[in-house]
Amino acid sequence: MKICMIGTGYVGLVSGVCFSDLGNDVICVDKDINKINNLKKGIIPIYEPGLEEIVLKNYKNKRLNFSTDLKNSIKKSDIIFICVGTPTKKNGNSADLSQVFSVGREISKYINKFKIIITKSTVPVTTGDELEKIISKKISKNKFSVVSNPEFLREGEAIRDFIYPDRVVVGSNDKKSNLILKNLYAPLISKGAKYISTNRRAAELIKYASNAFLATKITFINEIANFCEKVEIDVEDISIGIGLDKRIGSRFLRAGPAYGGSCFPKDTKAIVSTADKFKIDLSVIKSVIKSNKQRSQLLLKRVNHILNNKIKNKNICFLGVTFKANTDDMRDSSSLEMIPYLAKRGAKIKYYDPTGHKHEFDKFRNVSCSNSINNAMKNSDLIIIHTEWNDFKSINFKKLSTTKKLKIYDMRNIFSSEKITSLGFKYFGIGR
Ligand code: UDX
Repeated sequence: MKICMIGTGYVGLVSGVCFSDLGNDVICVDKDINKINNLKKGIIPIYEPGLEEIVLKNYKNKRLNFSTDLKNSIKKSDIIFICVGTPTKKNGNSADLSQVFSVGREISKYINKFKIIITKSTVPVTTGDELEKIISKKISKNKFSVVSNPEFLREGEAIRDFIYPDRVVVGSNDKKSNLILKNLYAPLISKGAKYISTNRRAAELIKYASNAFLATKITFINEIANFCEKVEIDVEDISIGIGLDKRIGSRFLRAGPAYGGSCFPKDTKAIVSTADKFKIDLSVIKSVIKSNKQRSQLLLKRVNHILNNKIKNKNICFLGVTFKANTDDMRDSSSLEMIPYLAKRGAKIKYYDPTGHKHEFDKFRNVSCSNSINNAMKNSDLIIIHTEWNDFKSINFKKLSTTKKLKIYDMRNIFSSEKITSLGFKYFGIGR
């Protein structure tokens, strides 16, 4: 099939590249000429394990192309995926849909034959209706169909999540488009993905409800972890104990810092805001947002306690500063609240992240980026393990001097207290 992906951010680029790998002809379009030129040279704008190889392979065999020419890319394609950003509005909590609608207006100018226009960006319920209205101002309704096909991929696992999704959700109000999409996804369905066909509004809401539910699950276990700390229980036991109940499930039950990233914070706010418009109070999700907002301060309180309320001049090492492992993404990472808080109180902070230096901390004189784990850890009073990269799981703490009363705050519970204590260091975890 001939596919056009509009927007080469996370969702657009990964999905486009994977569709080409399934044998389709794909053009990935973006306004950013530098990005497109770089992609043509094989320079990938995001950190995503495995992506570069698939880009190079499919670009070489000409199934994948990159372009800034929206008009011709639309004309040549049968299926158009809208994958532009839907960030939180500057003043408020709702999703800013200006890019989606502006792309809709552009598409309407270039429809030369029947096109399926799909929102893959996360868009609030009824956005498809709005998009259909915008396009039908220029084009008769029998010339196009607006479909919702949300994407559930995780950063760092995006390729795997695309190829082996738990489910493919297609929300369409017309049967013809549904059949075409079922055919597009046939290679994934044959590998075990469930294909769910719903009306368009339901598909839009499935995406938000999924992210809100996962954020709720994480927040739930984070609050249980707070309780565990008071009553000397290991939250890891609780996660296993409740996760084995199939009704609950074991995934997304890892306690840790506040959840972050490009989706959960934005999408929880947006679903609440959309529901508010319909006069529905999503009180559970509201309290999840509140709890997550307070979490970094709660963890910083513990840091204060660990350092006996003496943060000034303490050498603190941060291992990992992105919102989770296997990504270079800093969006809504809890380190963005924690590092400035500690820096402003006079701590000397060295951080190491496998994805390198982060400009977000440049304005702090007492925060520096180290080029290795060992350099970052040298002379530390406290090491904070902020993300769960495999590189950190294999750290040999034996090499560190035990003369200093070194403390380790393992915010991802990747080490056991016994192991660290046996080396002569003080160990603190989450919910243990
Ligand atoms: C998420 C959704 O999982 C994905 O389906 C959607 O398409 C986009 O948003 P992503 O933001 O890439 O994906 O990361 P994810 O792995 O879901 O983690 C989100 C946040 O939750 C991170 O801060 C992570 O550290 C945290 N998390 C996740 C936990 O704290 N505990 C867990 O058990 C799982």
